[in-house]
Amino acid sequence: MDIQTVGPNEFLSIDGPASIRVMNGRLYVLGVEYGSGDSFTVMRGRRIIAKSLNDSKIDVVLGPEGKIEKVDGNNEVIDVWDRALSAIPLRNSTIIILGAMDVGKTTVTTILVNKGVRENLRVGVIDGDPGQNDIGPPTTISASIATSFITHLTQLRNLRSVFVKTTSIEHVWNYVLDSISRLIDDLKHNYNADTIVINTDGWVSDSTAIKFKLEIVKRANASHIIVIKRNDEVDELLKELSSLARNVIVIPSPPNARIRDRDDRKIRREMGYSKYLMPSRELSINLRERPIINLPLFNGLKYDNYIISLIRRSLNLPIHYIEQWGNAAVAIGNVKEFQVRNLGDVNIAILPENWESGLLVALEDKNNYLLSLGILRKIYYNTGKAVVSVHESFNNENMIDHIRLGMIRVNDNYEEIEKVLYIGKVESLLSSQIILKR
Ligand SMILES: Nc1ncnc2c1ncn2[C@@H]1O[C@H](COP(=O)(O)OP(=O)(O)O)[C@@H](O)[C@H]1O
Ligand SMILES: [Mg+2]
Repeated sequence: MDIQTVGPNEFLSIDGPASIRVMNGRLYVLGVEYGSGDSFTVMRGRRIIAKSLNDSKIDVVLGPEGKIEKVDGNNEVIDVWDRALSAIPLRNSTIIILGAMDVGKTTVTTILVNKGVRENLRVGVIDGDPGQNDIGPPTTISASIATSFITHLTQLRNLRSVFVKTTSIEHVWNYVLDSISRLIDDLKHNYNADTIVINTDGWVSDSTAIKFKLEIVKRANASHIIVIKRNDEVDELLKELSSLARNVIVIPSPPNARIRDRDDRKIRREMGYSKYLMPSRELSINLRERPIINLPLFNGLKYDNYIISLIRRSLNLPIHYIEQWGNAAVAIGNVKEFQVRNLGDVNIAILPENWESGLLVALEDKNNYLLSLGILRKIYYNTGKAVVSVHESFNNENMIDHIRLGMIRVNDNYEEIEKVLYIGKVESLLSSQIILKR
């Protein structure tokens, strides 16, 4: 325990893990004024700037790596942000936050949540960053309703998640768009949100990223767009946004933000997977009843052994399972790598044996919402059953409508070991033949 005093208009930089209790005075933190008796926490790995509004006395408890120090307020963005964000009328608004990685998108989302809560609004929040999702698991777009003050989005209860198969939006951005639209709809109509705040991923630099971001703005029918500008990263995006005739608010990024490198992000995601999957138990799923929606094995045309041996011979590949849907087929064989071959007018996607082992999957309900993440362990081609590891507390088995394959492979420690891009290829091959439910 450590009691500190701060004068009016003094600024504190607090690195988590830390817990702060105001004994006297007032602190402004992320859109909230904390008075005597109030307390808040700063999570590990995060930095929060607090401003003392008068003579304050605070009680500080720091965890390992936690740190608190007074900083020069002249460089801080706290007041500039507050002015810009306070000008936004929150009720009936849809606000989108755009910017590159580590510029403060999640922090600005948090501030807007608090401002809404302060006005007694039910704030709908969508975390649209599948790489660093704070509301739901990694690989999802997740939504919540905030009704009390927070210092981190992780404090929000996850109401709905849509699994988008990977953490790299560039492979799945169309599906992400659909997912965000659905969640907005849901928050408005089923959860009575008074306002919607949408946090996005940090992919802003190339032309597809810009197209994707503009499309979110249009589909969400955003009333306000906040762009956090660090250097010239978002200039191109800003140019395009200016033609959309919406309220675009440009704010600077904080000068001393903690930058996470690729490894930090990966470790955080892996902690994310294990949080949702460990301790685990195994579930046996009958794929004839609960199919894999993006690779509906056991629902296609199967061959007898004679035909399989003919195909094996003409492809000159050791294939032991094959199933066909119209002009597309999927085969499993003793091949090193995924490949597509043609036989007559049939395109055959050939998957290596054990292709499924360690693949991240989603167990989804009939509306395509996530019930649970899972790890696919094994598919038994003779019985049509799959073994999937889920969190031991998962108890919505009866609600599983189907499985959706993801594009990430993890090992037993939930470390990402492969981006399985061929899942996307199989999907597009099949989608021309069978109507995949979305
Ligand atoms: N005003 C600030 N000054 C210093 N660091 C900040 C400030 N606001 C946020 N941070 C820290 O900067 C990092 C990146 O912020 P975050 O909101 O997660 O960015 P993004 O969502 O764009 O990746 C986080 O560790 C966060 O705690
Ligand atoms: Mg973020």
